[in-house]
Amino acid sequence: MKIDFTLNGQARSLNVDPLQPLLTTLRDVIGLKATKEGCGEGECGACSAIVNGKLVNTCLFPIAQVDGAQVLTLEGLRETPRGRCLIDALLTAKGVQCGFCTPGMVLALYQVLVNSPDVTQITEHEIRVGISGNLCRCTGYGMIVDAVNIAIEQGEGLW
Ligand code: FES
Ligand code: FES
Repeated sequence: MKIDFTLNGQARSLNVDPLQPLLTTLRDVIGLKATKEGCGEGECGACSAIVNGKLVNTCLFPIAQVDGAQVLTLEGLRETPRGRCLIDALLTAKGVQCGFCTPGMVLALYQVLVNSPDVTQITEHEIRVGISGNLCRCTGYGMIVDAVNIAIEQGEGLW
């Protein structure tokens, strides 16, 4: 099946099995390896990407559903000022240890920030809910939560 979509701002056209997961397409067909496979069952969030403004688990997301959509992965986000701000904040907060959860976590945190009507009012609870689908086995989450506050502080005007 022919699938046309926009990936990190660039038009893509692929002939693939419509049931192939977006994760497989990103990693094995296109060669973008930031998106990780953890559980492969929709439980860990390591495979997160943003499709039409929503965080999805790409391991369970058939490529057919991407037809006509806008897809954002860490490779695209890190080229933007917001993405760089958030990654720098995560590093400053020491919210990256083994790094396996990090690509998905950055996208989940980005969603928390861009969906907030006023980032100065974001609560810890809202951040924790926003990353509740993204498991991290290393950090205990506290430093990841801190990163959002650092990003808001350092990225004044960006959010
Ligand atoms: S690999 Fe997709 S949710 Fe774990
Ligand atoms: S930094 Fe290791 S799983 Fe999150």
